[in-house]
Amino acid sequence: ALLIAGPSFAQSYPERPITWIVPFAAGGPTDGMARMVAAEVSKELKQPIVIENVGGAGGQIGAAKASHAKPDGYTFLVGHFGYMAAAPSLYKKMKFDPIKDFDAVFRFPDTPLVLLVGAGSKYKTVDEMIDFAKANPGKINFGNAGVGSSSHLVAELFAAKAKIKIMQISYKGAGPALNDVMGGQVDAMFDQTNTALPQTKGDKIRALALTSSKPMPQFPNVPTISSSMPGLEASTWYGVYAPKGTPREMIDATYHAYQKVMQNKAFTEKMEQQGILLLSEEDYGPDAFQKFTQSENGKWAEVIKAAGIEPQ
Ligand code: MLT
Repeated sequence: ALLIAGPSFAQSYPERPITWIVPFAAGGPTDGMARMVAAEVSKELKQPIVIENVGGAGGQIGAAKASHAKPDGYTFLVGHFGYMAAAPSLYKKMKFDPIKDFDAVFRFPDTPLVLLVGAGSKYKTVDEMIDFAKANPGKINFGNAGVGSSSHLVAELFAAKAKIKIMQISYKGAGPALNDVMGGQVDAMFDQTNTALPQTKGDKIRALALTSSKPMPQFPNVPTISSSMPGLEASTWYGVYAPKGTPREMIDATYHAYQKVMQNKAFTEKMEQQGILLLSEEDYGPDAFQKFTQSENGKWAEVIKAAGIEPQ
């Protein structure tokens, strides 16, 4: 008999709450993006989506946990370019295989990063920071979300391009790192636009430069870093992955729920207001995202080698 996943399947999945593992502390940009999207996708799937924060090692710990989850359509990983594409070039020993252990489900829109310092910082421009760092190697410290996180990697690329030595301090996520930049315990960090933006409206943080390819209206008078350091452009790309072996019907059901969410103009405009860069429709789906993840593994291997960043 021809076995088809017919209406009975479509009506039954999902029958119970779903977990999305976010491998960073709550309050950071990955957590923020995941919660915002999960709230809408769960309305479409008519089941709660529970966010489980599992921090550590730039996302490796949470991703490894997700790679061992049952591929039954009830546990997914929120993955980003750090641990799903750059990490294999940064860690001598990976705790999971981004390609073999997961299947892409859908891609979120991108978030560029913003170089932030505390409002009391003496640096008013990137050049002032570079000048000080050239005269005082290793003195400026950057907060990050662990080796291989966006905040860590972009700071490494910045230091390599500026030919300066910085001190990197790891946290369980960009959220806790940002707290210490605001408190003055740490000099600077690259944070993603969705969490940096609200802080730039307050009086604790100053934005020095954007890693987007062009200035953003949400960050008035903030130059792109590539205007003074050509080629230093980066955005965090991320999305949802399923443990390898998850039935394709469940991946498709989840993606179709997301497609409906992204057709809601009010929702996508809210994303844009947060400094999130929408992609074209064909970039979001499982096949495109899987191909993109694979090609990005190659790209980041070259970028990391060219920057002279050694695996650890
Ligand atoms: C990072 O890569 O820095 C993470 O996205 C930070 C976070 O989400 O906590």
